[in-house]
Order: sequence, then structure tokens, then C-alpha cells
Amino acid sequence: MIIRPIKTVKGELVAPPDKSISHRAAILSAIANGRTEISNFLFSDDTFSTITALKKLGVNIDIDQKSSSLFVEGRGLNGLRATDKIDCGNSGTTMRLLAGLLSGQRFFSYLYGDESLNKRPMARIQIPLNMMGAKIKLSEGHAPIIIEPSKLIPIKYSMNIASAQVKSAILLASLYTSGTTEIEELYPTRNHTEIMLKHFNCDIDSRDNVVRIHNPNTLLANDVYIPGDISSAAYFIALALITENSNLIIRSVGINNSRIHIIRLWQKMGGNIRIFNERIVNGEDIADIEVKSSELTGIVINKEDVSLCIDEIPILAVTAAFANGETIITGAEELKVKESDRLFYIYWNLKNMKADVKLDNNTIYINGNNNLIGCKIDTANDHRIAMAFTVAGLRAFGQTNILNHKCVEVSYPRFYEDLNKILEY
Ligand code: S3P
Repeated sequence: MIIRPIKTVKGELVAPPDKSISHRAAILSAIANGRTEISNFLFSDDTFSTITALKKLGVNIDIDQKSSSLFVEGRGLNGLRATDKIDCGNSGTTMRLLAGLLSGQRFFSYLYGDESLNKRPMARIQIPLNMMGAKIKLSEGHAPIIIEPSKLIPIKYSMNIASAQVKSAILLASLYTSGTTEIEELYPTRNHTEIMLKHFNCDIDSRDNVVRIHNPNTLLANDVYIPGDISSAAYFIALALITENSNLIIRSVGINNSRIHIIRLWQKMGGNIRIFNERIVNGEDIADIEVKSSELTGIVINKEDVSLCIDEIPILAVTAAFANGETIITGAEELKVKESDRLFYIYWNLKNMKADVKLDNNTIYINGNNNLIGCKIDTANDHRIAMAFTVAGLRAFGQTNILNHKCVEVSYPRFYEDLNKILEY
């Protein structure tokens, strides 16, 4: 995909539906009692991995792509049926959440993924799930994952890595126990599973970084509206911030407190971002966002910041290349085990665009010079690298070529279509 520099960004967009919440809505409605309508569902490669897996497990799901709705006939906690190998594609959320759910079943399961997913660390779910009594086998810490039936017990678990997927796997497995499961997070992560479990009638509470779920629970079907995805909206927000004379409104963006840290960081950098029309839909906060061109200044980002905007670090790094002064991103080791080694590909592509960038261990140093030069971008088939460097390309001199740009379909199939609505050349 060839990207040419733009003059400005103007207009309005509706943010695409949230990927994390779409996965959770599909999974929880599948094990609820009754029929759930999920409106504004995200149809993307990753969420199709979850839908296909649930269908194989015996769940009746009707898809209406025209109205962006999913109708799920919940089978109750014990209504899933055994199936053969489950392909999770590129989706870590599908694999890790299903591993938790399937640990509690009375049948064997086998989960595998694509080349990238089969390289990602899975011991992080195996350890707590095995503590719960699950019998999970990995291949040298990676998928394929084989799960044998077993009896689960509640646990108290302190998470040493920041991962909403690990937390969610434990919560889903806990539904097959009796008693209270307690999860402590040293670094806070997104809490969509907790919110949606509550929406489906579960007895769950969170306080001071500790989540407690009191089982047994019966999940009751309850319609869900999926808010817009702030991680997808972030590409447009970034573009408006770093482009002169821009004025952009993005409607219906999820502004859950565990997700809007990226906005706070950009505001700290001097970003002119206004959140308005705030409302709550099925326990999730949403709002509209207005962004104007801004003079940004570099900042220091630490490990806790990273855990709160883990998916936005690539696009944050791109904006840092347009800020005055230095931005330092520290404690970013989790970025190495995403769909690609994002730490490396942020560095590598910024460097190839002639940014002033250094990578030292798990820290990236970016000295903003507002002077990127178009080049070939190695996306490593990673959707977030592709979208972040598309934004960089729109503000670079000359042409930028995004290799394998189709990988955006993992989270945002209409990314280029939506982008074209707001660009002025
Ligand atoms: C996600 C959690 C994060 C995030 C991913 C989606 C989720 O992963 O990077 O895109 O839906 O729970 P980790 O749990 O590995 O940090």
C-alpha cells in the first residue's frame, strides 16, 4: 500500500467496535443461559477466530454483518461439546481466554494458532490454571495447548506480569469452581472481562487492584452493545495531533478508565483532545472525542503507563517522532511478545524513516525531529505496526510503502476506507 503525504485531516468518524469487548461478549454469551443479541460487534479476523471456535464447541451463533449484530444461543456453563483442533489464528485473546474456559470442561481440547501466535508465551496462563487443578500441556512454553479434563479449585493469585488475557483466563476457569478466586494485579490492565461478567449476572468485585469472583455463578443472557475501540481510534487521534490545521471528531469511543491512558499521555505531551458526550452502555463508558493539531513535547513513559496503553505504544512512538524533545519509553518488554516483536519493529521502521531513535534493552529513546522520510515499512505482518506506520507515512516526506498492509484485518478491516474519509491532500 503506497502512502503519500497529506495536507490536513478534517471531518468526523465513528470508531470501529472494540476488539477486546467483542471477544468477551461472544464468549460469555456462549456460556450464559438464554439468547444474547450483541450489537455493533467487530467483524475482523481475530473475532472470527473466536466465533468459529465457539461454533465448533456447539454454540449456535447467527451473524448479521449488515446490521453488525451477533445472536448467540447460550448453552449454559456446562453445555459446550467436545470438538477437534481449534484454530485461534493470530488471536492471543482467543487462545488465552479459551484456554481458561476449556480448562473447566469435561472433555479434551487442543488449541493452536498461526506462526506468530504459536511463538507467543503461554506459560503465563499454564501456571495459574495448573494451580487451579487444570491439566494443561504446552510445547516448550508455547501453543499448541492440550487441555485434559480435570476438577478445578479457586485460587489466590498475584500476577507478576501485566496481562488482561491472563487475568481473564483465570476468571473464566474460576466459573468452574466453587468458592472465591482472588487475583491481584501489580500493574493494572483492562477490566472488560470483569465488567461483562457483572453484566451477565456474576458476583464479582474489584478493589485496590484485587479482583474477587465468588462462585458458583450462573450467567444470564443479556444484550450487549459494543463500544468503539479506542485502540483503533488512536491512529486517527495521533494523525490529527501531528498534522497542521486538523480538526477531527471521533464518535462513540470506549473511554473505560483502563483504556484511556493513551489520551492522558497525549494530553500530557500537549495534545489538544476533548472528551464530550459521555455516557454509559452496559457498564462501559463511552464518549465522543475532538482532536486538533497540537504542538507536542516529549515525555517519559514507565512500565505502569505501558501496561495501561500496551496496544498504543507503536502509535505513541510515531507521535513522539513529531514532538519537541525526547520521549523515553521504558519497561516495555511486554511489547516483544505481541503479534511481532513490537519494540524492535517500532525502532527499525522509525530508524528507516530517518527518525532519531535508539533501542537499548527494553527502552526506546525518540528525539522528535518532525522530519520522517518515506520508505518501505516492514510490518512483520503485525496490524498495529502497519496502522502506526501508515500514520507516519501520511506525515513523512515522499512515499511510504506499507508491506503486507492487509494484516490490518486482524483488528480493523475498514482502516484504510475510514482513513480516506478524513484526509485532505
Ligand atoms: C487484550 C489484552 C492485551 C492486549 C491485546 C488484547 C485483551 O494483551 O495487548 O491486544 O483483549 O485482553 P495482554 O493480556 O497480553 O497484555
